[in-house]
Amino acid sequence: MIIRIADAKNHVDKDVTIQGWMYNKRGSGKIYFLQLRDGSGLMQAVAFNGETPDKVMKIADELTAESSVKVKGKITQHPKHKDVFEMQVKDIEVVQQCNDEYPISKKEHGPDFLLDNRHLWLRSKKQWAIQRIRNTIINATYEYLNNEGFIKIDSPIFTPNACEGTTELFEVPYFDEGSAYLTQSGQLYLEAAIMSHGRVFDFGPVFRAEKSKTRRHLTEFWMMDAEAAFVEHDENLKIQEGLICHIVAKSLEKNQKELEILERDVEPLKKVKAPFIRKTHAEVIEELRKMGSDIQPDHDLGGDDETILTKKYDKPIFVEKYPAKVKAFYMKRDPEDESRALCADLLAPEGHGEIIGGSQREDDYDEIMKRLKEHKLDPDVFKWYLDLRKYGSVPHSGFGYGLERITGWICNVHHVRETIPFPRMISRLRP
Ligand code: 4AD
Ligand code: MG
Repeated sequence: MIIRIADAKNHVDKDVTIQGWMYNKRGSGKIYFLQLRDGSGLMQAVAFNGETPDKVMKIADELTAESSVKVKGKITQHPKHKDVFEMQVKDIEVVQQCNDEYPISKKEHGPDFLLDNRHLWLRSKKQWAIQRIRNTIINATYEYLNNEGFIKIDSPIFTPNACEGTTELFEVPYFDEGSAYLTQSGQLYLEAAIMSHGRVFDFGPVFRAEKSKTRRHLTEFWMMDAEAAFVEHDENLKIQEGLICHIVAKSLEKNQKELEILERDVEPLKKVKAPFIRKTHAEVIEELRKMGSDIQPDHDLGGDDETILTKKYDKPIFVEKYPAKVKAFYMKRDPEDESRALCADLLAPEGHGEIIGGSQREDDYDEIMKRLKEHKLDPDVFKWYLDLRKYGSVPHSGFGYGLERITGWICNVHHVRETIPFPRMISRLRP
């Protein structure tokens, strides 16, 4: 019977076949420890003289790293570790033997080499673990939002206008229309959809021609935008808190093994419980300046500011009410201080920084028209968006998360390029 490594516990003392790859081998002559992986997990298969037939011992001897195999044998439980299973090898069928030496060895490789070999690097243990956690985060997001009454609405990727800054747009030729822009966020389209469904979310790739070469920036990344009618600023934060708590809880529940492989200290993750820390932008500026930053009161937080601030805390932090001029045109102004936006960024602890950007939206026709002009955006292109303020406008709010940023935080990896299968950055388009 063919089984998956993840199901080995149900087949103790049975003869089964595992189909996969041999990623590593120890031993020689009398005994071989073959490290197998099949996508679902990792397992050691032991071939030894006396038990394993001679011709199979010879195959084991010649087997090279990353060769694909079907290995037959008996599943046994590790004598000391209850949830560790091994296979006593009886037969090996080589599906394809690697004749060339596998480029990624156990020795240290530089990041450029690994990124050039991303198509192979994905097989490495840590990279495997990261993608599995990413998958949990995606599923947990759907689960939470569906339970909270959000409907998934797919927003377009070709768009006629900017959602965030106009300097970060990828322009593509578009037939007789001239140019299209690759979406930066589906938010504006979700604002239309809430007038039909009340609560909606999208989840897809977004594009930013950002010149930023930092550990937090990609030119293509996956964003989840959520938007809700009749939700104001405070409730918007509550929804985000609930979502993030659910994501963290699911990762701890489903990915214990993966977190272990990543040597992720799970104690800080266990502390991720509502309510999160809430600070205003003004308070944060003061705090940062006390810590030696030279940030100005009317500036956006830079990457370094986020790092030093979030290293101090073991819970996520909402930074609210940024100066309106550093934020997007669609944000509602704070009624208590017109110079500030009714917004919040959620910063992940342990130095990870911004994972969510969100706000209450300006719902008044005249106000939003004013903002468009201030931001030098053409009201003609936004005519459809302005209609939303003409026909049954309601107070509404929403937020968007960067999947790679969240995955980077949960996995505690330094650079987001490791959290997406095939990263796209200013100077990387391959493989
Ligand atoms: O803060 P941002 O720009 O917000 C928006 O786009 C809103 N329209 C979202 C909304 O309200 N529906 O982006 C949202 C998140 C950030 O908090 C960050 O996690 C991630 O997207 N992000 C990036 N991730 C990787 N590389 C980049 N270049 C990113 N830019 C933003
Ligand atoms: Mg932001």
